[in-house]
Amino acid sequence: MLTPTIARLLQTPPSADPIEVQAWVRTKRTSKNVVFIALNDGSTIRNLQAVVNLDEGTIPESALANVTTGAAVRLKGNLIPSQGTEQAVELKTRTIEVLGAADPEQYPLQPKKHSFEFLREIAHLRFRTNVFGAVFRMRHAMTYAIHTFFHERGFFNIHTPIITASDCEGAGAMFRVTTLDPKSPPLLPDGSVDWSQDFFGRSTNLTVSGQLEAELAAMALGKVYTFGPTFRAENSNTSRHAAEFWMIEPEVAFADLNDNADLAEDFLKYLIKWALERCPDDMAFLNKRFEEEEKTKKQEERSEYNLLDKLRFVLENKFERITYTEAIEILRDSPPNKKKKFQYPVDRWGIDLQSEHERYLVEKHFKKPTILTDYPKEIKAFYMRLNDDGKTVRAMDVLAPGIGEIIGGSQREERYDVLQMKVDEMKIPRESIWWYLELRKFGTAVHSGFGLGFERFLMFVTGMSNIRDVQPFPRTPKSCEF
Ligand code: 4AD
Ligand code: MG
Repeated sequence: MLTPTIARLLQTPPSADPIEVQAWVRTKRTSKNVVFIALNDGSTIRNLQAVVNLDEGTIPESALANVTTGAAVRLKGNLIPSQGTEQAVELKTRTIEVLGAADPEQYPLQPKKHSFEFLREIAHLRFRTNVFGAVFRMRHAMTYAIHTFFHERGFFNIHTPIITASDCEGAGAMFRVTTLDPKSPPLLPDGSVDWSQDFFGRSTNLTVSGQLEAELAAMALGKVYTFGPTFRAENSNTSRHAAEFWMIEPEVAFADLNDNADLAEDFLKYLIKWALERCPDDMAFLNKRFEEEEKTKKQEERSEYNLLDKLRFVLENKFERITYTEAIEILRDSPPNKKKKFQYPVDRWGIDLQSEHERYLVEKHFKKPTILTDYPKEIKAFYMRLNDDGKTVRAMDVLAPGIGEIIGGSQREERYDVLQMKVDEMKIPRESIWWYLELRKFGTAVHSGFGLGFERFLMFVTGMSNIRDVQPFPRTPKSCEF
């Protein structure tokens, strides 16, 4: 039989009923002849305090020798009203059994402050810290909220493939999947690798996005979404890029870019509301952590809000919506651009926006999430719908304070001839996506979708400043340990 979780026990009124707890020791301290053991089982950020009265003689002091930080223990006793103010109840302990000791000489996670860099090196143990417990409970809560959001709105979850032969974003940053011998692959007469002899009879990669396949499903099921892992071999070692990350990609038939932007805004607000309302303990803890981190920063780098206030602010305000062209005008005239403070100067229409530009717009200029639309076609993917000006496409990026781009999406090119032209222009072999093109031949319709980077969103909600700290096992250039 499973023992009740600490989350449950902390909600249970005191009584003489015997109970059993299985958990890990966070701390142990002795005051006079009373030993206080803080127990955590991962079900909540809160600890259950177990009290052992040595004077009563039921538990000898020797039985507590191995009750040290990190040890797995089983305790029996009953819940009594707590003397402390932290919790309503505590465990009056009758027996204590060490299930798995954690030698304090060797255990790396002593109860003190550890840096996130150090904790990444012990990713197998960092789940046991308060911060990572909170982050990964939030990751779960947000996953559940995402499925609930779409389910409530009549979307169907589609599992799109992880191994593909197409490059959705056309960025070429893909991980190859092959079973050929790297030492002696079969070669064609011209010396290039003969991929027709590979496992799938062609060259294949890990997917960068489930969008193309989601579009196929949307053109029959109406409203669909994918939520799965995606892989990008970009060699960018930043706090916002991971080589393996999860993406949520809704795709909606008969929806234009405005509908798409509405959906994105509703979606983000729904998730934030969920976090604030349903995860108060973890969010309060993460807020405190965020405030402490802010205190270590220089005055001018500190954010104006704490985490909870920032999220409430996002919830209560309508997102700004402007075009790329308007954004360029704002940036061109901005003080940092005039004072040459940007690493990439904003000197002409057509440049790709860098994260410093995006962050200026959301953090300094508008001070709220901003949806940028209608980018130059040259800097966006082939599938975005061409505007009548022939220069811009129906793209949309949602920018969030502190993060920059959190969502990328668009209205899709639904016109067969225009899409073929774009595919040829971008030198994408037609035969590699004949099925995608054919969608426009039979029953084509206006449709739109977007991709939310799950980890970027989690950084936003939890206030964590590095993507490596919202993924259980981050994959980044030169790093794949656990
Ligand atoms: O803007 P992106 O490349 O858009 C797409 O992949 C589209 N196919 C989505 C769609 O329309 N269905 O990526 C979408 C989001 C970005 O806004 C960002 O949040 C996240 O994915 N992202 C990354 N997150 C972590 N590490 C990386 N290397 C990321 N690259 C993109
Ligand atoms: Mg993008």
